[in-house]
Amino acid sequence: MTINHKDQNDIIDFELIKSFEIEEIFNNQPINRLKNDLKVENKTNKLNNLKREIENIENCKLKINASQIVFNDGNHNSQVMLIGEGPGQKEDEIGEPFVGDAGILLNKMLNAINIKREEVYITNVVNFRPPNNRKPDTDEINKYSNFLREHISIIKPKILILMGSTAMESLIGKNVKISKERGKWKEVIIKQKTYLTMITFHPAYLLRQPDQKKYSWSDLKEIRNKINELGIKL
Ligand code: URA
Repeated sequence: MTINHKDQNDIIDFELIKSFEIEEIFNNQPINRLKNDLKVENKTNKLNNLKREIENIENCKLKINASQIVFNDGNHNSQVMLIGEGPGQKEDEIGEPFVGDAGILLNKMLNAINIKREEVYITNVVNFRPPNNRKPDTDEINKYSNFLREHISIIKPKILILMGSTAMESLIGKNVKISKERGKWKEVIIKQKTYLTMITFHPAYLLRQPDQKKYSWSDLKEIRNKINELGIKL
């Protein structure tokens, strides 16, 4: 049988590789950098489109009272996505999530498990500040839930962290108690994809109830272990 030059180059001599005890085979296929760039651009475009869509929401009491949209912070390529409740006064002023007192505590919580805030992706259930920092009501949570689902589908994290009962209500439902559901790994299906999800207490709740921090610490350690177990690079 005649073998042309190209075929000869393509042949991998497994016997030879075995004799060198090599465990990895060098892949001589060209890297499609264009395809990767398009993927990144696509994600950025999708996030911009979603942001615009939320900014154009109609008949929303939250939007009318807020100064600006609070959409996201962190690394949109992160495999860890955190979801809070909604912007407070400071977030409304600055336009970024978790920049007030709850944000300072969140940063400390992440640092405690060796994660920098910039290494995760952060958003909220509602993207406009509820008046007087009240909790968003069920209608508001439902109104924004499709946006949140779309947001998660764009980021496609390996781990989803729901902080507080509002995030839990938005994605899991109302008839569950956070004190019972926190700290366990769950599978949440969003747009036909399953996300490994942990519910934990919201940092603002921990500021009001510091005696609950011990449960939060246990959840954080569980999250760190899962990141290590899945080999997630932050
Ligand atoms: N609390 C939240 O849930 N989100 C923020 O962005 C700030 C405080």
